[in-house]
Amino acid sequence: MVWTEEEFGVGMPLIDSQHCNIFKLLEDLVGTMRRQGTPAELGVALDGLLEYTKYHFQAEKMILDQYKYPDAESHGIEHQIFTDKITKRINEFKQNMMKNDGDNGDFKKMDLELITFLGDWLTEHIQKRDRDYGNYCRQYPISPL
Ligand SMILES: [Fe+2]
Ligand SMILES: [Fe+2]
Repeated sequence: MVWTEEEFGVGMPLIDSQHCNIFKLLEDLVGTMRRQGTPAELGVALDGLLEYTKYHFQAEKMILDQYKYPDAESHGIEHQIFTDKITKRINEFKQNMMKNDGDNGDFKKMDLELITFLGDWLTEHIQKRDRDYGNYCRQYPISPL
């Protein structure tokens, strides 16, 4: 998945560059899966994506608070639900990996499901929820973030 302005731009350069980085991490993860990387490599790629996404969510929270965005709270709740769910899934993935040495069918199925969920959620969230705040924030000429 590649970030493009037309498809994913929210009109705020800092946010757009972070979204672009998220997509690169997602691509790394998909690449690791496609070349049948080891479970440990997949774990590292998943952790990297989760950590960067958490950092990005914090940046969004600061910006939305600064702009006094009316939906900041529900936006934050969506981030939290996603983060909790992904953290849990990654932990399950790691436990499964230790139990099965990472090479049975369930393991492969789970990691495909997890990666598909990550890609779908992030794409939809950026295109809908993040674009909503982009439209709101761009009406107000405070610092061009
Ligand atoms: Fe975002
Ligand atoms: Fe967001």
